[in-house]
Order: sequence, then structure tokens, then C-alpha cells
Amino acid sequence: MDDKIVVITGANSGIGKAAAIKFASEGYTVVMACRNLEKGKSAKQEIIESSKNPHVDLLQLDISSFKSIRQFSTMLKDKYPKLDILIHNAAYLNHGEKQYLLSRDGIELSFATNTVGPFLLTRQLIGMLEKSEDARVLHSCTTNIRHFFDPKRKIEFDNLQGEFKDERPYSTYKFYGDTKMALLLMTFKMAEELRGQGISVNAVQIPAIKLSKETINKLQSGWRFAARIQNVFSAPRETMADTYYYICTSDEFKTVTGKLINDKRKVMESSHYSAGLTQDIKQLMDQNVYPKYADDQENIERVWDLCVSLTRDPVSLS
Ligand SMILES: NC(=O)c1ccc[n+]([C@@H]2O[C@H](COP(=O)([O-])OP(=O)(O)OC[C@H]3O[C@@H](n4cnc5c(N)ncnc54)[C@H](OP(=O)(O)O)[C@@H]3O)[C@@H](O)[C@H]2O)c1
Repeated sequence: MDDKIVVITGANSGIGKAAAIKFASEGYTVVMACRNLEKGKSAKQEIIESSKNPHVDLLQLDISSFKSIRQFSTMLKDKYPKLDILIHNAAYLNHGEKQYLLSRDGIELSFATNTVGPFLLTRQLIGMLEKSEDARVLHSCTTNIRHFFDPKRKIEFDNLQGEFKDERPYSTYKFYGDTKMALLLMTFKMAEELRGQGISVNAVQIPAIKLSKETINKLQSGWRFAARIQNVFSAPRETMADTYYYICTSDEFKTVTGKLINDKRKVMESSHYSAGLTQDIKQLMDQNVYPKYADDQENIERVWDLCVSLTRDPVSLS
């Protein structure tokens, strides 16, 4: 195989590490983009040993920080001539966290980590992706966005920069869902923007997957027990790693862009269900549809404009 390069954010644990092992085992050069180099180093060793592939690199990236994203992008450009696959796997969700936290750039921490950071990183790396013959970007989304089947559920657009941080109750779980919905909206627009440049952009809807011990230990104490119970019923991390790999390398998805793909590797569609209890139940059970909220052009443009203005990136993609 010619030297194919994949960047995976948050590759030091969980699904990201399992995906790094998968890509390395298949002969890819894997760049682990991790915020904590100490943790990253031991994971890197594990990935090399498990895959028998020495071409595993570790570069520092805090995806919630614009400065770190720009530094990472510069390092990557200095070391590699092109980029084939970019997987935005890292995310912030601290179950039980009651405090509204701001990133270094003054953005609600999960929105900075899960939506704006991936937006900026992809934009920084467009030139490298354009040099690949088959460039693919993948966003890790979640079944949590299915809460948007509730027509009253909306992204809390007016509170993404701390506007009501002391006045409104904060739920990290709710913000996580908002930011992953925003990520999906951004996926649709990014795919359109990059269509002419031969770069595909998709999102994968991830169901409950076994959390690693490290991840469970990061949770607030009350949530650790719940997470251990949920783990019993969750799928192994390797199944999702294989799905990342399939979406990013298979011929089936080579020309697919601007889509949400489920864990059964099916392209999902906007919900066609109408109102009413029976329809609501069918909609909830149907793993091939996502909430209509995601198809609303106004929502898409709003997320996009916010990402553009927050990152103050004057470069036009058109
Ligand atoms: N597991 C599930 O059931 C599930 C379900 C739906 C969706 N997902 C999605 O799947 C992806 C992977 O989740 P996971 O379960 O594997 O979680 P995980 O084990 O907690 O992995 C998350 C990774 O993201 C990294 N990260 C967090 N904030 C970061 C930042 N600011 N900069 C750089 N890296 C950062 C973490 O680094 P540290 O180790 O330094 O904290 C960690 O490596 C996430 O996008 C998640 O939303 C997971």
C-alpha cells in the first residue's frame, strides 16, 4: 500500500485507540492527536505492539483550543506531505458535571471540543487533504441526537459563549447532545463546501459502546456505577473501530458525502414520520432515520456562521 496517513483525535483511549490499532494493523501511518502526551505515549506503545506497525506517531492536540489546533496543524504539515483520513473522534462529556465550563477561547467547553474544534481543524488541513486521491473526513456523532425527535428540543444557541452560565441550570448531557447535533449540521455544510475539492465529509451515529476503565474513572463518582452497568449491555469498541475503518476506506463509501451513517453502516435519512403516538414510536425504533431538525437549512447556516465567526477564519472555502 502506498503510504496512507490517518489522523485520529483522542486516539489514546476508547474507540479512538481501538481505531488506531485497526488502521495501524492494516498498514496505515497513524497520527494520534492527543492532548495528554504522557497518556498518549503509553497508548502509542500499545498500538505499535498490537498492530506490529512502527508507523504510529503522536502529536499534541487540544481540540478545544484554537491555538493548539493551529500548532498541531503546523506540526502535521511539517512532517507529512498529505493527509488521507481525518477522524474527529475526541469529545467532551463529563457525566454529572454541573458547572458550565468555558474553553480558553471563551466557548462552552463541549461546543468548543465537539463542534468548533473539528470545524477549525478540518479547515486548517484542507490543503493536505486535497493532496490525497481519496480524502475522507469522519465526525463521531451519537444516538443522543435522537432527543431532537422531540419538536421542542433545540440547540441552546443563545448560551454557547457563557451568556447565561450563572442564570440557567447546566446539564453536560444536554449540551453534549446539542454539540453533537451541531456537529451533524456542520457535517452537511462542510460536505457541500468541500465537494469540489474531492474531500468527503460524513458523520457516524455511535450507539452505546463499552467505555474504557480510564474513561469511567474520569466520570463523577455517582456516574461510575451507572457506566459499569451500561457497559454490560454495550458493544465492544472494536466493532466501532471497524466501522470507522469501513466508512473511511471502503469503495462503498468512496463517493458518499454529507451523510449520517449508522453503526450498521447504512446511510440514514431525515425522518419521514408524521405526528401521532404510533408514528412517534415507529420513528424512535427506526435506526435508519434522524430528526428533521438536522435538515433545517436555517439551523445548518446558523451553526456554520457561528463556527466561521468564532474561529475568525477569513479564508473563503468557495
Ligand atoms: N462510548 C460510547 O458509548 C459512545 C456513544 C456515542 C458516541 N460516542 C462518541 O465516540 C467518540 C469516542 O468516545 P469514547 O467512548 O471512546 O470516549 P473516551 O474513551 O472518553 O475517549 C475520548 C477521547 O477524547 C479525548 N479528548 C477529550 N477532550 C479532548 C480535547 N480537548 N482535546 C483532545 N482530545 C480530547 C480524550 O482524551 P483524554 O484521555 O486526555 O481525556 C479521549 O482520548 C466520542 O466522540 C464520543 O462522543 C461514544
